[in-house]
Amino acid sequence: MSTTVTAHTNIALIKYWGKKDPILNLPTTSSLSLTLEQFYTQTTVTPNTHSDQLILNNLSVDTTRTHHFLNVLREQLGNFSPLTVTSTNHVPTSAGLASSASAFAALTGAVTHELGLEMSNESLSRLARRGSGSASRSLYGHFAVWHEGMDDLSSFAESLHAPDMPIALVVAEVSSDVKKVSSSEGMRRAMTSPNYGDWLNQSKNQFVDMQAAIMTRDIEKIGSIAEDNALSMHALNLTARQQAFTYFTSETQQILKIIQDIRHQGLLAFATIDAGPNVKIITTLTTAPHVVAALHDKLPQLHIETATSGSGITYD
Ligand code: DP6
Repeated sequence: MSTTVTAHTNIALIKYWGKKDPILNLPTTSSLSLTLEQFYTQTTVTPNTHSDQLILNNLSVDTTRTHHFLNVLREQLGNFSPLTVTSTNHVPTSAGLASSASAFAALTGAVTHELGLEMSNESLSRLARRGSGSASRSLYGHFAVWHEGMDDLSSFAESLHAPDMPIALVVAEVSSDVKKVSSSEGMRRAMTSPNYGDWLNQSKNQFVDMQAAIMTRDIEKIGSIAEDNALSMHALNLTARQQAFTYFTSETQQILKIIQDIRHQGLLAFATIDAGPNVKIITTLTTAPHVVAALHDKLPQLHIETATSGSGITYD
């Protein structure tokens, strides 16, 4: 028997950027995300008689991490026989948004389903968190929150049960020769910033304000809070006392400037950026084509995709 599962990636509007326990991936803040329909991972697990085999096509997840995660699942769920894991990332065109979030969410769903375990998404989110923190949110469609919690049990994600709204995310893929700092390493450095404590307080307030903006379908407010939250996160990287760094390239900054300019012209467009140089622009379904046109006008070589609100984990 084998099981195939699909999980979509998610973009944090209130970021996870710091761990109070790096083994359990317990975060220093609660975070909140939007799941994307067009970016997902499909994973099949099949029992085999030898040892865990990984066939990872086009994935950002390294194999050591995946082997380790399978052993975490054995520790949590009881021992299970070796598995062959075949995983494919589906990202439009070139893979600028390969994601550990969708990969670990899909793998968690596939393994538990294959073992015949009927688990709630909340329980799955706790397990997925151990693979990659942001994976806890990828069990859910639309908007999800990951509660910071104090221990393994209280740190889980759930759906926000948000109303439908015409939100869109324009993904501008920036080429980068810069050596990537992993999320875990970036967080470790950011936590040495003298501004880290202030960021935690600010994030708590933004988490509350963001939920209110989502419940009232106020996409402008959602974008504005998300942009503030993301830019402050990246300021922590720059002000880290140990190994300060930035994910921004000159193209990242050019895009941020274009977004500011088109906002002054009256378009709804706000930026968010994760652990890399790509810029994701929060906008509406009707404004998205104008945002794309404005970006292409100034940066014709830029690779751009538009994503919409996506669904939760599915068992094929
Ligand atoms: C900037 O979930 O990739 O995208 O738990 O170490 O695997 P690990 O980190 P990861 O970090 C994501 C960081 C972020 C913000 C977010 O998604 O909340």
